[in-house]
Amino acid sequence: MADLTVWLEATGALAGAGGVGFAKARAPRVYWSLVGMPLAWGRFALSYRSTMDVCGLTVQPSGLRAFMTRNVARREVQPVPPKIRRVRPTSTGLRVTLRLPAGLEPADVIASSERLRHAWGVHSVTVVETKPGFVELRMTGYDVLRRVRMPRTAVPHDLVVPVALREDGTAFERDYRKAPMALTLGANHSGKSMYQRNLIKGLAQLPVALVGIDCKRGVEQSAFAPRLSALVTKPDDAASLLAVLVAEMEDRFDLLSLHGVSDVWELPERLRPVPVVVLVDEVAELFLISAKKDEERRERIVTALIRLAQMARAVGIYLEICGQRFGSELGKGATMLRAQLTGRVVHRVNDKQTAEMGLADVAPDAVPAAGLIPMERPGTAVAVDSTGGWSKIRTPHTTRAEVVDACREFAHLVPDFPALDPFRPLVPAEVPAEGPSLVKPRPVID
Ligand SMILES: Nc1ncnc2c1ncn2[C@@H]1O[C@H](COP(=O)(O)OP(=O)(O)O)[C@@H](O)[C@H]1O
Ligand SMILES: [Mg+2]
Repeated sequence: MADLTVWLEATGALAGAGGVGFAKARAPRVYWSLVGMPLAWGRFALSYRSTMDVCGLTVQPSGLRAFMTRNVARREVQPVPPKIRRVRPTSTGLRVTLRLPAGLEPADVIASSERLRHAWGVHSVTVVETKPGFVELRMTGYDVLRRVRMPRTAVPHDLVVPVALREDGTAFERDYRKAPMALTLGANHSGKSMYQRNLIKGLAQLPVALVGIDCKRGVEQSAFAPRLSALVTKPDDAASLLAVLVAEMEDRFDLLSLHGVSDVWELPERLRPVPVVVLVDEVAELFLISAKKDEERRERIVTALIRLAQMARAVGIYLEICGQRFGSELGKGATMLRAQLTGRVVHRVNDKQTAEMGLADVAPDAVPAAGLIPMERPGTAVAVDSTGGWSKIRTPHTTRAEVVDACREFAHLVPDFPALDPFRPLVPAEVPAEGPSLVKPRPVID
């Protein structure tokens, strides 16, 4: 009998250990909530003071405090670490808010983040200054970019679309009002189209007009036709479409001057024209020409893009440009256009120059990080924040079918926009799902 109990206990323990190991590898969120987080929290609470001390994140107490400790409390005077203001567990890690004592600055904590990560045995520690005197340590318990799941609170709103997950477990949002024009770079197969796909899925749910320019014969964007106000797949059509958008921009400026305002958002809501997001996939197709006769078309396209990039923000027209490279080799106007594109996302690149094209002028210290993105992690990128900082992000894997469904569901949000009607894509009729055949099979020989 005793043998049986021991055997049962042993198998139970083994199954438990196996289950924990399985959860750690396959369901890291569950593992974190049940096992990882209590352990990390415990380790953090027990070793906080000593860890901060050895990492050089303490200061000598003030004269009065040292005097009181020595003479009133009759204790040894110890260095003071930052005060813990709040510890908040999340589904991916722990967030700790610290009040910095006089004499420490956020840069000191940032410099020690790698040491803190090892001391507390967490996957990563990111330090963010929340307000003067306070920093937040964002710890993640596991590699959140391995299989990306967006936080539940990340939903598109106003003109803000959560498109990817940051390394620290927060959502990376594309905010059109903060960074109206953006550039996404990356080698072939690095995940640029996936990024745009995620963006389209989010934008589809907002009251905006979506305009697609996809000169790869529409292979990426034509499936999203139900939600697009315009789609062009040839450079000639792109030239005409951009001319229409420039004319629209001028009309909108007339409207602004009529009402004496400088921005569409200052107009009363009923007068405000609908925001337009222009999504360009593979921008080089618009710049490169194979024959001399196309030069004039190129000129028109580039001029229109530069004019839109320079001025269209105020009238609610936004550019979202994707390309493999974006340097002076694209010819006249390329670097001028690039300078207007504030938002930058750089996926895996094949050469340092491409990373520099995207990042060197806005966040030079992010260039090496872009060169280190591994090939087996498509969708990973370095993104520059509107504040000038940068972070590593990865888009969730979203299938084309999911985005097509979103485009169908929100097809009613396609705004009334007569100027774009000539470019409105044909919406493929819905193919009825294959059901059981109503025709009764009849044997051939009877
Ligand atoms: N975030 C992601 N997670 C998993 N796979 C991805 C992700 N992003 C892209 N991929 C995969 O990588 C491949 C290339 O992506 P794609 O967006 O077409 O690259 P690009 O447009 O840069 O050539 C596709 O097969 C896609 O499924
Ligand atoms: Mg692509």
